[in-house]
Amino acid sequence: MPNRPDRASFPAPPLPHELTHAALADAAQRCRACDLYEGTTQAVLGEGPPSARVMLVGEQPGDREDIEGHPFVGPAGRILDEALERAGIARDDQAYVTNAVKHFRYRARGKRRIHQRPDRWHVLACFPWLEAELRLIEPEALVLLGATAAQAVLGPRTKVGESRGTRLECDLACVVTVTVHPSSILRVAGSDERRHAMDQFVGDLGAVAGWIGAARI
Ligand code: URA
Repeated sequence: MPNRPDRASFPAPPLPHELTHAALADAAQRCRACDLYEGTTQAVLGEGPPSARVMLVGEQPGDREDIEGHPFVGPAGRILDEALERAGIARDDQAYVTNAVKHFRYRARGKRRIHQRPDRWHVLACFPWLEAELRLIEPEALVLLGATAAQAVLGPRTKVGESRGTRLECDLACVVTVTVHPSSILRVAGSDERRHAMDQFVGDLGAVAGWIGAARI
């Protein structure tokens, strides 16, 4: 691959000795385990209560998330919020929301920053942060949103379309499942088709709520 930096020249992630959210979030700002920190505002660690029962993993922070320093606060976050609400999962009380990669990968076009999918080696370099978040939160359910998150955790051959909405064999949580990334719903053309995609997404999250008995009455 042209211009690909030599991974050996990047240091290991500076994981803190103390496993607290504040220590992780602080240490992530010093991470140089890949080149994605260059040109970003900050690393964006996951957020949610320590008692969260569900951990949702997206791909990487987007433009808004990079600026604001919080995960899923842009357009994809609004889709996720609506779907969680409809599925009966309270984001504030029950969900820890994070990403497979903690820095925003983009291509500059004029003043705009165009999202670029992280490469596999970015995902691997960032994985220790996700592992640390899993140790910290110990969620009952781990929900992988889209291919990047699914492949980060379950391996590069994982296909969202084949496994979405089912409980998968994985010892990282009692329930591990895959569904689409909320931004894929934003890209569906046609309002009927988009509504259908949203209903399916809500259905996948509703199944998670059912499996862990989290659905609100
Ligand atoms: N997309 C993601 O995968 N994560 C975010 O935090 C925002 C958009």
